Amino acid sequence: MTTTPFTKRVKRRITARMHDFFAVCPPGLRAGCLRELKALDIPVQDIQLLPGGVAFSCRLNHACLANLWLRSPARILMRIARFQADRFHILEKKLTAIDWELFLPAGTQPAIQVTTHTSRLYHSDAVAERCRPIIQAALGTTSAQNQRSPLQMIPQTVMVRAENDRFDISLDMSGIPLFKRGIKQQITQAPLRENLAFAILDAAGFTPEDPLIDPMCGAGTFAIEGAMIQAHIPPGFFRGFAFETWPGFSPAAFAHAKSLAAKHFFPAGPVFASDTDPGAVEALTANLARHPFLAPVQASRQNFFDMLPDQMIHKKGVVVLNPPYGRRLEPDQNTKNLYRQISRKLAADFKGWRVGLVFPKKHMADLNHPGLAGFGFFHGGLDLAAGIGTI
Ligand SMILES: C[S@@+](CC[C@H](N)C(=O)[O-])C[C@H]1O[C@@H](n2cnc3c(N)ncnc32)[C@H](O)[C@@H]1O
Repeated sequence: MTTTPFTKRVKRRITARMHDFFAVCPPGLRAGCLRELKALDIPVQDIQLLPGGVAFSCRLNHACLANLWLRSPARILMRIARFQADRFHILEKKLTAIDWELFLPAGTQPAIQVTTHTSRLYHSDAVAERCRPIIQAALGTTSAQNQRSPLQMIPQTVMVRAENDRFDISLDMSGIPLFKRGIKQQITQAPLRENLAFAILDAAGFTPEDPLIDPMCGAGTFAIEGAMIQAHIPPGFFRGFAFETWPGFSPAAFAHAKSLAAKHFFPAGPVFASDTDPGAVEALTANLARHPFLAPVQASRQNFFDMLPDQMIHKKGVVVLNPPYGRRLEPDQNTKNLYRQISRKLAADFKGWRVGLVFPKKHMADLNHPGLAGFGFFHGGLDLAAGIGTI
């Protein structure tokens, strides 16, 4: 890359410095994210569990790798400024002092998301209106909007948060939520988010060496997540990120990290994914077909209650179930019966298997499995839990 006064400024102010980052996590997933971050082979400092996620400090190129490798967070934010402001003219002065052009690509018109709590500048739309022209003036406008590359199409978002008149300005590095792994092009009803699927697999003690059964697979979120873990594929390998168009991003270093990771891929398996719905099996088969390392996942049409794992594989592993529940299975009595039947089936045919079973929290009593410990989470507007244990 040719060195210019601008690239020198980017190096001095952005790439050569430590910055603060924040991995936003859904409830229940913060501790897992912290563990993941500590286990990453990248120099990260000041890791801290905070409400809503995990804070850490590192260089930008290492935060890019955190986006590539972390399975738990929904997104990673880069903190770019922090200041006090209780008047609009102060806010404008502070915003004007930020070197926006060193962080975001020229010509970007980022979305601006504002949240304010107990602050004198409490009107979020009015705050956003003050931010927009300042950011746009710093970044300029481009006429090349029509021929944008797929990476340039990834949304850029500036997050403005005010609490007690203290403003935190952050950029969303991920762009598209991190739970989107770039594999599921076809989905079915009520897919689980991939970071929740990971948390449940992780809580059930799933390792790359374990066989996995996902017997109510839908579009196969558990099956694909488990297969990626078995195949050593980073969760962000098949997708793009907002930071890939930033001036401080090093495409060569990121490509090198991805090619190093790819050297360690090997075929996934054994993973058995099945569903009674032929449309779900078709969707999963199509999703897997694009990725040779995931091809060993066996997708089939089968009723869970007819499944005999001992006839499928000799080694015991992990079975994960995300049965239909809630609005899709009214009345309530049906959900109760389904969970009772699942408990009986697991007890009869899955002895020695570790289980992760998603259920609506209010049906805890119907599980009839005193050994299952759970953690709670929200999904699709429902209060859910995952029952984890060994049958
Ligand atoms: C909530 S969805 C699973 C969604 C899936 N985890 C995903 O992320 O796409 C429940 C699935 O269970 C399937 N199902 C319901 N009863 C079943 C049974 N007895 N055997 C196998 N699959 C069943 C449904 O067809 C549906 O696809």
